[in-house]
Amino acid sequence: MLIRDNRLDIPSSEITPQSLYLNRRALMAGSAGLIAAGLLSRVAGAAALTTVPSDITTTGEELTPKDDVTSYNNFYEFGTDKSDPAENAGSLTTSPWTVKIDGLVDKPGDYTIEDIMGAQPIEDRVYRMRCVEAWSMVIPWNGFPLASLLNRVGVQPSAKYVAFETLVRPSEMPDQDSSFPALAYPYVEGLRLDEAMNRLTLLAVGLYGETLPNQNGAPLRLVTPWKYGFKGIKSIVRISLTDKQPPTTWNIMAANEYGFYANVNPKVDHPRWSQATERRIGNGFSDRRETLMFNGYGDFVADLYAGMDLAQNY
Ligand code: MTE
Repeated sequence: MLIRDNRLDIPSSEITPQSLYLNRRALMAGSAGLIAAGLLSRVAGAAALTTVPSDITTTGEELTPKDDVTSYNNFYEFGTDKSDPAENAGSLTTSPWTVKIDGLVDKPGDYTIEDIMGAQPIEDRVYRMRCVEAWSMVIPWNGFPLASLLNRVGVQPSAKYVAFETLVRPSEMPDQDSSFPALAYPYVEGLRLDEAMNRLTLLAVGLYGETLPNQNGAPLRLVTPWKYGFKGIKSIVRISLTDKQPPTTWNIMAANEYGFYANVNPKVDHPRWSQATERRIGNGFSDRRETLMFNGYGDFVADLYAGMDLAQNY
């Protein structure tokens, strides 16, 4: 926001108040390469969102500091280190952005992000998030139920699953441009239709009251707080309704370690580590907690899995 101006020959101190100027200096110092590449206008800052409260929230837990939420990330398209997404995702162009909605729907089409966001209120929802790597955060998301988008496009009776796909753009996503990419791209994910329609299932467009930082999956990402974090596919460009269980990236990469369901379950260990406890990010390495069944969201989702063997359907 502060650095749209391309009059770089005019000292910025002459055209902006000093506080903004100092901010701009800090931003520009970190983005010299982008400036050289002519990508300056893409380093947009977060914009404040207009949001409404939600009745669904996890109360009583301290929020994970915003700095941790936005600097300790998994977004392999930008690199595999936790710090890579924050360092490399600034180059992602998130506007214009369209999401193709297709398959078994009444109103398929290419929907702009503005159209998608404008159709219903953006809620504040604090969710406890649990990564399969046994760390957790508490994140104040801003978003809307996936169900409201699906109802709008009209799900046909034969649909049983929802498939999601992330952007492929090697020019802006360095791992997609690598000769040894970490994953098979595009990143894909899926939910059973009843999971997708559950009122916990959120399409997030922001966090901490501002538009999503690129490293967290701008401009649109999935949030399913009772599942391990890898289900939360980022930077979504396609949502398809299907009658077959869709492939999912981590299941393709290592089927014995990552299942389709990925429900948080302290009793079903990962083949290489225990899932009984987790490290809460933000409070140092000593903050270990018991992991809760369905990450504490059983009241909302346990019915979805009644009668299923959750060790088999991991
Ligand atoms: N989406 C895409 N496209 N690429 C990824 O590498 N990583 C997943 C998920 N969504 C990933 C992704 C994993 S493993 C996790 S834990 C969460 O994003 C992390 O989300 P966060 O960085 O916002 O905490």
